[in-house]
Amino acid sequence: MDIAVITIFPDFVLQTCSIGVTGRAFEKDIARLRCINPRDFSGDERGTVDDRPFGGGPGMVMKVDPLRSALDSLGPSSSRLVVYLSPQGRTLRQADLIQYSQLSELVLICGRYEGVDQRFIDCCVDEELSLGDFVLSGGELAAAIVIDGLVRLLPGALGKQASADEDSFMAGLLDHPHFTRPEHQAEGDVPDVLLSGDHAKVAQWRRQQALGATWLKRPDLLARMTLTDIDRTLLAQFIEKYAREGKKVGANSLNNDIMVGL
Ligand SMILES: C[S@@+](CC[C@H](N)C(=O)[O-])C[C@H]1O[C@@H](n2cnc3c(N)ncnc32)[C@H](O)[C@@H]1O
Repeated sequence: MDIAVITIFPDFVLQTCSIGVTGRAFEKDIARLRCINPRDFSGDERGTVDDRPFGGGPGMVMKVDPLRSALDSLGPSSSRLVVYLSPQGRTLRQADLIQYSQLSELVLICGRYEGVDQRFIDCCVDEELSLGDFVLSGGELAAAIVIDGLVRLLPGALGKQASADEDSFMAGLLDHPHFTRPEHQAEGDVPDVLLSGDHAKVAQWRRQQALGATWLKRPDLLARMTLTDIDRTLLAQFIEKYAREGKKVGANSLNNDIMVGL
């Protein structure tokens, strides 16, 4: 997969993406990352990429020409998706990363200042993507997050592909809890089932814990899913045990709606 980032801070993106799983994936050529600096296409010695906004007001706006020339420098492509990182975009979800990881070519545009001239967005951008309802000073962090999240989904990027498949959101639920050595700690013991060696029982326990964690922390996700009869039974057992232990359900009324629906 080829990923290109159009940014006036290429080192920021390259350095951030050179670490850990992402860095190893680029070393192994599972994906290729290049950054293009619109300053190299400014047409002046100072590398100007911004100008004052028409209509007045504070801040500067990124000009169309340096951005379009940076994009054009990638050459023609019929399979390229151009994404502008923007607080006005659709909020990033795991499903977007899964979709991006199946592309052959992705271009991420990083804005700065007050943002990008609307004409560039209208002519050259396929979609706008946001990290959430807040404003960053530039798109580079957002681009690095998208790259990290999608590269780890590429075949061969993780030691074991199953570790991504079982992650939160991949199948609509949150992940189950994890434990490691030692078995006994002052803070508690590892659940017996995980020491049993019975793979079917372990899988069932993990499914139940994933259902339970989602019910407790993100009932909105559960409300969107169609649960199988087995899932319903596992979740009902989880909730019953939870209530028996005297634990309080969170303030979110969706918990109760789901409980009633079981
Ligand atoms: C200071 S922001 C511009 C915000 C713009 N004036 C607005 O209010 O919509 C500069 C750049 O940071 C990036 N950015 C800011 N917040 C972001 C977010 N929540 N998600 C993704 N990118 C963001 C975008 O690339 C944006 O062009």
